[in-house]
Amino acid sequence: MPQLDDLCSLIASCKMCGLHYFRKNAVCGKGPANAKYMIIGEAPGFQEDEVGAPFIGRSGKLIDSILSELGISRDSIYITNAVRCRPSMNKTPSVKEIKTCSDYLKEEISIVAPRVIIPMGNVALKSLGYVFGKKFPKVSEITGKVILVNRYYVYPQFHPAAILRNPKKNVYFSEGLKMVFTSDSEKLLAEGSVISL
Ligand code: URA
Repeated sequence: MPQLDDLCSLIASCKMCGLHYFRKNAVCGKGPANAKYMIIGEAPGFQEDEVGAPFIGRSGKLIDSILSELGISRDSIYITNAVRCRPSMNKTPSVKEIKTCSDYLKEEISIVAPRVIIPMGNVALKSLGYVFGKKFPKVSEITGKVILVNRYYVYPQFHPAAILRNPKKNVYFSEGLKMVFTSDSEKLLAEGSVISL
């Protein structure tokens, strides 16, 4: 996947915002270049910054456990983040940081061309807004819905860290992912569960 490798080299040496001062590793997306599904998280945490891979800490383990219940291998999914460098103290990335880094996401989406995009949390959704030049509602207002943007099906979900903080929400998260990975987007479109932006 030369195009993704080139993109990753750019990300690894990026100094477009102040987050590069504190990073150990910039974290590139990971997965097949022709993946049907793309998960987008917020930004690397401590472990991801140490190792340089996305979603390997507690949030990643939650995603893995749900995928394995559904019989889906993580290796078949492209997993990336809205922001590629860990914000110090795991702060929420600023609007400027999200906007600057969204150019990388835009490039990644055009290379991988996934059919289904799963932004997890409001930072991922905001970044997608910059990618597509659209304003999305908040995740809490549209979780469970499918948004058709250009030719992509976008299924916003809560961020797994929010689920770990409030396990009562886990039912929405697992049911949401089950819907994403097991239902046919065309059928949902026909049923009118799809918002077009
Ligand atoms: N949280 C995220 O949003 N992304 C990661 O890669 C890890 C934790």
